[in-house]
Amino acid sequence: WPVFSDDIDAILKLKRERNAVILAHNYQTPEIFHCVADIVGDSLALARKAMEVEADVIVLAGVHFMAETAKLLNPAKTVLIPDMRAGCSLADSITPHDIRLLRQRYPGVPVVTYVNTSAAVKAESDICCTSGNAKAVVESLGVPRVLMLPDEYLAQNIAKQTDVEIIAWKGHCEVHERFTPEDIREMRAAHPGVTVLAHPECPPEVVAEADFAGSTAAMSDYVGTKKPSRVVLVTECSMSDNVAVEHPDVEFIRPCNLCPHMKRITLGNIRSALERNEHAVTIDPAVAARARLAVERMLAV
Ligand code: 13P
Ligand code: SF4
Repeated sequence: WPVFSDDIDAILKLKRERNAVILAHNYQTPEIFHCVADIVGDSLALARKAMEVEADVIVLAGVHFMAETAKLLNPAKTVLIPDMRAGCSLADSITPHDIRLLRQRYPGVPVVTYVNTSAAVKAESDICCTSGNAKAVVESLGVPRVLMLPDEYLAQNIAKQTDVEIIAWKGHCEVHERFTPEDIREMRAAHPGVTVLAHPECPPEVVAEADFAGSTAAMSDYVGTKKPSRVVLVTECSMSDNVAVEHPDVEFIRPCNLCPHMKRITLGNIRSALERNEHAVTIDPAVAARARLAVERMLAV
């Protein structure tokens, strides 16, 4: 920790001076997650809690779509992302034009978009979802068929849990698509009795090998409530680091994959974001109004 302490002290001071809060996703590194963040959670929790923020400035320690969602829900506040290049392979996999073409191909079929999309894509959607509420959102529409975009694997994993027919897109998370069923079988052989928790952005064959699949918050809750003696979180690497701090009695097995986008956020660039008011997230007001509706419909489910 000593190497970080200058930045941590400076960030805590800047937060007070600027009346700022830091929202951090579960994939942020432990020194961000545990030492400077005010609010932590999965995408759904960050969206919900962004609405309750009273500070003037929100620093989003996460990826760009999360900062956009916070801005959609807080148009009057300054929302900063410490590195504009913190993207997401899912958000990059689909454009507003793609959605318009899909609507022509499937007239009348509602469009559910994962929050891991740009505000411009959300604006073309009927409703958003996260991995934490996707099934509930799909079923809330009361229709036999939906388009669920852009994560093919999330769509396939949810399709197994509902009678609603789901039409998917070909987007993938570059972190979760790399896990294979063989990885899980090898972990079980090497660590007998291990409980395997997987994120639903993993391919369905991987989820089929797991004991439980859920959002990052659901995985964390599982560890807290079921207290497995050995566990592997089949997801991004920082997740285990963050959860392990709270559960010293649980053995964490750690094959994991890094998200290069999440890892662009550091204590150093959080500090300069607050010092220089960089990089403020802006969204075209016409796009924002329509995108906000899709996010608010999700939050009402
Ligand atoms: P959660 O909504 O489960 O936190 O997932 C967000 C994400 O980017 C997973 O890769
Ligand atoms: Fe996107 Fe995957 Fe990184 Fe999450 S882990 S931000 S879905 S690339």
